[in-house]
Amino acid sequence: MLSIKTLLLPAFTEASPVDNVLSVQRVQCDLAVVIDVLRATSVIVTALNSGAKQVTTCGTVDEARHFASKSPGRSLLCGERNCKKIDGFDLGNSPLEYVPEIISGAEIFLTTTNGTRAIESMSEVPSVAIASFLNLSSVVEKVLAYKTVCIVCAGTNDQVTLEDVLLAGALVSRVRLSTDLIQVDDASELAATLWQSRVESGLAEKKVSESSLLVECLRDTYGGRNLSRLGFFEDLSVCGQIDSLSGVPMRFSKDPTRFA
Ligand code: MLT
Repeated sequence: MLSIKTLLLPAFTEASPVDNVLSVQRVQCDLAVVIDVLRATSVIVTALNSGAKQVTTCGTVDEARHFASKSPGRSLLCGERNCKKIDGFDLGNSPLEYVPEIISGAEIFLTTTNGTRAIESMSEVPSVAIASFLNLSSVVEKVLAYKTVCIVCAGTNDQVTLEDVLLAGALVSRVRLSTDLIQVDDASELAATLWQSRVESGLAEKKVSESSLLVECLRDTYGGRNLSRLGFFEDLSVCGQIDSLSGVPMRFSKDPTRFA
């Protein structure tokens, strides 16, 4: 039996930090699937598809600089604060920047406001997978190989965000199509219902692709409005292309920050 739990926000707050024993107990699972559709996890998937050697996620800007300076290979400092590229960094957090000409063979050191923090909150979980709409089918396959799975939505500044819950719902709905031996919690049910009502049910009626409906939804989310306001409107279309890429960036407990 596959059991899926969804956390609509990471299992920590300012008052209950990542290394708090209670927060670790709340996320007992074999696999954590971390979601930050706009845009950290979409960027990680894009970077590895563009030939990055690996992506190391860092909690702070200083940590990223420190690890990059120790890296023997060609390293790129990447990430954002408040959606904007960090001073002195090579790249920001737009998937459009992560093209093979720049990325291929490089080691990426990435720090973002919410996404890398959500990843860090899962540091006790033996395996962590990175999910985006771009690699949805690959993530579904991965989830089916585990017994207890926790989907973690990064949210934005401790607020639940529609775009992350939509992907959690798409994931739960698609996994259900592949197995009846599945048990999901109420948060997963909520996410699946959201996905069905916002995207799946519109398919027959509007006669457009799933990705077009999704991009329309992304424009009307907190993260989507924020990015559009800052001039990253095009990123919404890129992050909404379902199954345009493949593979699942993974990290295991022996190397808790490095995704390949
Ligand atoms: C984050 O981690 O907060 C986001 O990825 C923000 C962004 O898209 O720039």
